[in-house]
Amino acid sequence: MVGGSVPVFDEIILSTALMNQVISFHSVSGTLVCQAGCILEELSQYVEARGFVMPLDLGAKGSCHIGGNVATNAGGLRFLRYGSLHGTVLGLEVVLADGTVLNCLSALRKDNTGYDLKQLFIGSEGTLGVITAVSIQCPPKPRAVNVAFLGCPGFAEVLQTFSTCKGLLGEILSAYEFMDAECMWLVRHHLHLTSPVQESPFYVLIETSGSRAEHDAEKLNDFLEQALRSGLVTDGTVATDQMKLKALWALRERISEALSWDGYVYKYDLSLPTDTLYDLVTDLRARLGSQAKHVVGYGHLGDGNLHLNVTSEAFSRSLLDALEPYVYEWTAGHRGSVSAEHGLGFKKKDALHYSKPPAALRLMQQLKALLDPKGILNPYKTLPAQA
Ligand code: MLT
Ligand code: ZN
Repeated sequence: MVGGSVPVFDEIILSTALMNQVISFHSVSGTLVCQAGCILEELSQYVEARGFVMPLDLGAKGSCHIGGNVATNAGGLRFLRYGSLHGTVLGLEVVLADGTVLNCLSALRKDNTGYDLKQLFIGSEGTLGVITAVSIQCPPKPRAVNVAFLGCPGFAEVLQTFSTCKGLLGEILSAYEFMDAECMWLVRHHLHLTSPVQESPFYVLIETSGSRAEHDAEKLNDFLEQALRSGLVTDGTVATDQMKLKALWALRERISEALSWDGYVYKYDLSLPTDTLYDLVTDLRARLGSQAKHVVGYGHLGDGNLHLNVTSEAFSRSLLDALEPYVYEWTAGHRGSVSAEHGLGFKKKDALHYSKPPAALRLMQQLKALLDPKGILNPYKTLPAQA
């Protein structure tokens, strides 16, 4: 997304693909210890066979490595329920720039012995050390999973539906995702997926994960009745079986793929206060006019995370100039983050100052100089050349 793993000048590529072994799994605590090159989907299958799930899930699960997930602090689709990797990762083994193997591969839930060094490497995009093994807390596998895919008449209703479902679904709510009508057009047009509901300005995907199927179904039905009755939702469908569930998730998970078929894509991954989150999309549509092919908004609404994407036939300098720094200034003006979950990589490193004060940037540069004095670890990425 941001070129964090893409070589730009003279880098050497290090692959951890052969480091793909599970080291241990504890069937009572659900603690998984594995090497960095394990593929997320394979780990999911491994722990699911033992009654647990991985605390993260994302569209790239079939190819992404757990070490990369941790290095980039990947967010994804289960964030609302299980939180950030800063909470679920219990320990790491990291190779430092001088070759020291830092073994902090703890499996402990609680450990207040000094600074929590692993946190430095989570989300550091490989700029402070190379993660070689991960210890991660896996939650129990929910016995009942339901997905509802709903059409909403406006963004105000998307927000109101979120409040209503938080109130009525409580602890079983595990995902609240949204996409606008242009996203639906893209997945239908480029990927030939079919919409299960009537055309609407917005769509939301709600997932529940609980331990008793009848209890969850009752709660979900109460919520749906109320949402339909009050006009928050105009149409909807619910899935409990695996095939339909996957088909509904695909509408949301494959937006990024559909966008890549549409032309050149300008990608922004922003954290914003939820009530103003979609204003930026509307604002940009008016600002860019016919310069853009599509301006779309989708994302992890439950986490306040907007994926704002703009497409054009080919790369256009003037379109980029219309987008940047406008998008970053708009975000900073709303005290948002210019990178919610994708990181800074090569493309966004110079935008860091929109979300962090000068003192924070200076401290980041000092940490980089301490841990990697020769600048050999993922150079040119994450931090601006000058703080
Ligand atoms: C997603 O949530 O689909 C991704 O993080 C966003 C993207 O692929 O652009
Ligand atoms: Zn995302």
